[in-house]
Formats: sequence, C-alpha cells, structure tokens
Amino acid sequence: MTQPLNGKTAIITGASAGIGRATALELARRGAGVVLSARRADRLAELSEAILAAGGKALVLAGDAGEQAHIDQLLSKAMQWTGQLDIVIVNAGRGLAGGVLTSDQTQWESLYKLNVLGAAYLMRSAAKIMVEKQSGDIVVLGSVSGHNISPFSGFYGSTKWAVAAIAESLRREVAGRSVRVTTVKPGIVESEFQEVAGYTYENFNKSIARFGKVLSAEDVARAIGFIVSQPPHVHLNELVIRPTGQDYP
Ligand SMILES: NC(=O)c1ccc[n+]([C@@H]2O[C@H](COP(=O)([O-])OP(=O)(O)OC[C@H]3O[C@@H](n4cnc5c(N)ncnc54)[C@H](OP(=O)(O)O)[C@@H]3O)[C@@H](O)[C@H]2O)c1
Repeated sequence: MTQPLNGKTAIITGASAGIGRATALELARRGAGVVLSARRADRLAELSEAILAAGGKALVLAGDAGEQAHIDQLLSKAMQWTGQLDIVIVNAGRGLAGGVLTSDQTQWESLYKLNVLGAAYLMRSAAKIMVEKQSGDIVVLGSVSGHNISPFSGFYGSTKWAVAAIAESLRREVAGRSVRVTTVKPGIVESEFQEVAGYTYENFNKSIARFGKVLSAEDVARAIGFIVSQPPHVHLNELVIRPTGQDYP
C-alpha cells in the first residue's frame, strides 16, 4: 500500500521528547522525510538513526525554537534537502505551574518567547513558503489549558490561548490559498512536560487518580498523522483530545 505522506517533507520542533518525538516517528512511518529540531542534539541524533534504520528519511538541526535565527535555518535546511516544505508541526513548548499569582514571574518572558513568539515566527515563515505553492499543513500544539483557562496552570494556559488565536488568524489568512492551519489541544499527556513545568508528582498523581489512564505521546501523534493525511479539500482544523476521564480543563 502507498504511504499517505510519501514524497512529503515535514519539520517537527520539540522532536527530542514526548509528542514531538512520537509525531516524527508517526510521520516518518507514513512516508514523510522529517526534519528534527530541539536543543538536545544527542536525542535528535538517536531519533534520526532509529528512523533511518526503519527505512525512513530524517535530518537533524539542533537549536532554540524561540529564536528567529533557528527558525530561518530550519526552513532553509528543509528546502535545501528536498526543495519543498509540506508539513510543519509547531510543537516545541513548555509548561509552567501556577496562575497569575502563583507562577514564577521570572519565567514569564522566556515562556512567551518559546510558546508564543517562536511558534508565531515558525507559522509565519512556513506559511509564506506554503502560500507560494498553494498547499501545506501547519499543525500547532495548543492545550486544553488554553481552551479552558484554569488557575492550576493559568499563566501557561494564556500562552496556549494566544498561540491558538494566532493559528486561527493565520488559518483565515491562508485558507483561500489551500494551506491548512490546525490547532491540536491535548489534555494530560504523560511526557517530560510535567517535570519541566514544575508540577509536583502529588498533583500529577491526583489527576491520574481522578481521570484514569492519561494520554500517551503516541495517542496525540496518531491523531496528528490522521489530520495531515486527509485529502486536500478536507480540513480538520481544530482537535481537542483528552483522556476519556478528563472532565476539565
Ligand atoms: N504533556 C501535556 O500534558 C501537554 C498537554 C497539552 C499540550 N502540550 C503541548 O505539547 C507540546 C509538547 O509537549 P510534550 O508533552 O511533548 O513535552 P516534553 O516531553 O517536555 O517535550 C518538549 C519538547 O520541546 C522541546 N523544547 C523545549 N524548549 C525548547 C526550546 N527553547 N527550543 C527548542 N525546543 C525546545 C524539548 O526539547 P529540548 O529540551 O531538547 O530542547 C522537547 O523536545 C508543548 O507545546 C506542550 O505545551 C503538552
């Protein structure tokens, strides 16, 4: 059977762990050549080797997704590699425990730089290439914490609210030129996210006790693979994916 993404080139940011890593594997399995970005070069090299060993195509560029210079290099490397850019997964991001009063204010600027500005640089630069050729998929990782703002991680949630607004605004700008911009908003996914965000294990375990089995990174990756494999006239432009037992946020 032909793989649905054969001949396509995809960029995935935050590919060294969690949802990004699982999505890179999923898209490579579906036939795409994948350009892998994150700060930890050793993790990317290991992932690239695994993809190549399975018969896929992969390229690595380590860097900071909050920096426009890295985004520019990423796009030019992908274009030099295959001469095209079909799919961009705007995934690199991190959480921050607490609300406006309780989150660590010294983290606010760097959080917005990565989760909002870096994501917007990538969306804008990728969209400019895609409107030229009148096709392409940009998939942005939002969160249920940006869908329903809760005090538990409200400041982080505000970055995901903002990035979803930017994605929807871009969707309206480029829909007429056959470019699809999609927001995927996961609920709780077990990954390195919880530790990086500073959620206590006590809190996380309480959620697991309430919600039952939480999502794996592969659950989200499968959904993303499905979204970008739709025929060109079909656009699943927003997806909220939660563990079945997660009532809120
Ligand atoms: N886990 C959840 O419950 C959940 C729920 C909803 C939405 N999300 C969103 O899903 C996305 C992926 O999260 P995840 O759960 O897969 O988290 P994760 O396991 O912590 O992975 C985060 C990825 O982002 C990369 N990253 C972090 N800071 C970066 C920077 N400054 N520059 C480049 N890359 C950077 C990390 O790589 P390096 O450290 O190597 O740079 C890593 O590859 C995030 O946008 C997150 O907000 C997660």
